[in-house]
Amino acid sequence: MTAVLPSSPATEQAVRRRTFAVISHPDAGKSTLTEALALHARVIQEAGAIHGKAGRKSTVSDWMDMEKARGISISSAALQFGYGAPPRDVVINLLDTPGHADFSEDTYRVLAAVDSAVMLLDAAKGLEPQTMKLFDVCRHRGIPVLTVVNKWDRPGLEALQLMDEIRERTGLEPTPLTWPVGIAGDFRGVLDRATGEFVRFTRTAGGATIAPEERVPADAAAAAEGTAWQTAVEECELLDAMGQVHEQATFLAGVTTPVLFGSAVLNFGVRQLLDTLLELAPAPAARPDVKGEPRALEKPFSAFVFKIQAGMDTAHRDRLAYVRVCSGVFERGTVVTHAATGKPFATKYAQQVFGRDRETVDLAYPGDVVGLVNASALRVGDSLYVGEPVVFPPIPSFAPEHFAVCRAVDSGRYKQFRRGIEQLEQEGTVQVLRSDLRGDQAPVLAAVGPMQFEVAEHRMAGEFAAPVRLDRLDYTMARLTDRSWAQVLDRESGVEVLERSSDGALLALFAGNWRLQRVLRDHPDVHLAPLVAASG
Ligand code: G4P
Repeated sequence: MTAVLPSSPATEQAVRRRTFAVISHPDAGKSTLTEALALHARVIQEAGAIHGKAGRKSTVSDWMDMEKARGISISSAALQFGYGAPPRDVVINLLDTPGHADFSEDTYRVLAAVDSAVMLLDAAKGLEPQTMKLFDVCRHRGIPVLTVVNKWDRPGLEALQLMDEIRERTGLEPTPLTWPVGIAGDFRGVLDRATGEFVRFTRTAGGATIAPEERVPADAAAAAEGTAWQTAVEECELLDAMGQVHEQATFLAGVTTPVLFGSAVLNFGVRQLLDTLLELAPAPAARPDVKGEPRALEKPFSAFVFKIQAGMDTAHRDRLAYVRVCSGVFERGTVVTHAATGKPFATKYAQQVFGRDRETVDLAYPGDVVGLVNASALRVGDSLYVGEPVVFPPIPSFAPEHFAVCRAVDSGRYKQFRRGIEQLEQEGTVQVLRSDLRGDQAPVLAAVGPMQFEVAEHRMAGEFAAPVRLDRLDYTMARLTDRSWAQVLDRESGVEVLERSSDGALLALFAGNWRLQRVLRDHPDVHLAPLVAASG
């Protein structure tokens, strides 16, 4: 029996929301697809307007400059646009995730705020290392995944081979919704498995505008496309025989993944993706709190912070906390409660950010993202609410694998140094570890990927006017421990215990796995708990 939800503005709007992120290994085409999705939704007239193609290198300064030039990636947390025609229309919230693996912790935080994910694969490369990690994270968090095989316009693997790879390596059963007509590199269109029709694509100049799609009945497709059509039909029969057919319940349960084929750069298959999101992707549902009790959508406003971004506008030195609305209606100006401190928080300055443009948000509903300005008291993971208190589960930090002592180059700028470190820590740019032995002048920065250090260095010098020197430490592993064991561990060579500023957790750092193994052997009772691993 389906439960009848009490109708409220929040529940009515929630049903129309689709909040998701596109995730992929770098270079699979995430930025191109984001742009193509926005183009289809007619947010922008021509692809390329929000995405400069220059300077795609992976060094940090280039990365930062590139992100700045592209605008959309770094300065927007979510792209919101409408899709479809009433009564089947939806509001799409596309949350941005960083492309580089070193920022996987940020990606993880964003995934805490979505209801589904679109996994983009490069047709020529199949499953790449970052793809595998992201599939793991989605499985861990119970996020339904839609898979898009991109770049079908270029030579690549065989479609059936790709399906095998997905099944064998991710454990998810692929259930293609469309099937390519023409091998990779000879992309003519797709067979729509639901209707049996051929959806023919036509190239537009440079893929810059919406590619016209023509629906062709099977008979006509067979006559026009010959062997390419015949092969697609036979392969689909094989998929039918193997039971690789979409089922909504198994998709939502994270057992199957619907698959679409396309070419983001040519805008092929993008409309199907939007239609699939509209029809199949889950709408926001009641989110469980820290005790596992769901906060009903129609309850008063509640949200949690999943991303903090500072220094976007150096002239204003502002800081935005991005929250995902979980229940109720967000009304700008309302005073909400910050669960961590119990203090009131005024939401006079609430914004939506699109590219470099900001717009004031007056109303938002479950699934929407709101950027709160001047949110210096808020940390990633914090909950906000109106009325009945609620605390959402914290977003776990990843196990850091890189460590460096951080010192101010100019000791006269200690105040700026301290403020900067505190801010980077609150934003989650790096984790900050301390000990009495090292003192506050020389905190240890901990990161999942070394590029996080480069970002920290860059921002300390540029934004806080406190240039720093980072000296890398030999540690490569961290485990959680407790006070009683901290003293024992500190006496071991190649081991050091530090306190994490954000939550007071005690982290034992080890210079390599064999040090850890030796400690485990010498102290069989030792309390050492693993942290969430970045590598899943
Ligand atoms: P990312 O955000 O996932 O890192 O990928 P991005 O969109 O930047 O795309 C990476 C490269 O792949 C780009 O090429 C882009 O044009 C290309 N690409 C994306 N989708 C497709 C597709 O469907 N087909 C083909 N053939 N290529 C695609 P680039 O060489 O880095 O830039 P450009 O000079 O081609 O613009």
